[in-house]
Amino acid sequence: MARQAWVNGVYVAADEARISPFDRGFLFADAVYEVTAVYNGQPIDMERHLDRLERSLNELKFGVLPDRKELAEVHRRLIADNDVSEGFVYTQVSRGAYGGRDFVAPEHPRLTVFLFAEPKALLDVPAARNGIKVISVADIRWGRRDIKATGLLAPVLAKTEAKTRGADDAWLVAADGLVTEAGSANAWIVTKQGEIITRALSHAILPGITRHALFDALGQHGRKIVERSFSIEEAKNAAEAFNTSAVALVAPVVEIDGQPVGSGKPGPVTRQIQKLYYQAIGADVAKAAPWLKD
Ligand code: PDD
Repeated sequence: MARQAWVNGVYVAADEARISPFDRGFLFADAVYEVTAVYNGQPIDMERHLDRLERSLNELKFGVLPDRKELAEVHRRLIADNDVSEGFVYTQVSRGAYGGRDFVAPEHPRLTVFLFAEPKALLDVPAARNGIKVISVADIRWGRRDIKATGLLAPVLAKTEAKTRGADDAWLVAADGLVTEAGSANAWIVTKQGEIITRALSHAILPGITRHALFDALGQHGRKIVERSFSIEEAKNAAEAFNTSAVALVAPVVEIDGQPVGSGKPGPVTRQIQKLYYQAIGADVAKAAPWLKD
């Protein structure tokens, strides 16, 4: 069967999905999105993703929410019908199309809601096994990064520059020299004293669902996370570093701006965190991530 997507209540062949060019998502990036990981054919932390989607819509004063039960059902059906054992579900909600262009948001929007599922290896991938190289770039995004909005030009430029410079991702650095987050992931370091550090939540970063899951998983094992900002210099001199997101899961960062982080290989704390997270999503770690035994 051809790949299925879902647009405004209708399952359609993905190639035939259509949205108006007058859609405010297209004209103004007046839209929000979510990316939910799928593992073993199950959406991971879907309720938290739906909570964040609703929060984003409320913060942007959409005034109306898509039917949450329907969205959950569409997630499950897209995963099943598209045979996605490992991958992600993408959800986008825009403020709709009105046949013209007006900055002022409609009082009673007719939402455009679009979902698709995509198979993608998440666990047994080179990034998770060997780690990734990042470059640092200026964080030129808008002031409400806690809202998961689709205006993603800054990370598009940052990640493209990373690729051009032979790296895998970018870490975004604010004007004060402090790291906000990665291009599309939360950024973490482990100090030489073994402290696990990530930036505190604020308007400056996205409240990552994977970040949240690590607080749960590490908390259950009595390990503390320190929420504070760190500079790019501190990160370069840290013992370990890593990214978290719904598609990267836990990706060791082994190089920043050409400088090895710690030994230049994924460190033991990052390995332990990978293991805890993979267990939390129900993976058989020995099979799914055999390199963790090393
Ligand atoms: N990005 N920070 C930013 C800027 C992000 O775009 C993301 C996720 C995260 C991590 O959030 P979570 O753990 O909920 O995935 C942090 C998704 C995966 C994307 O844009 O593709």
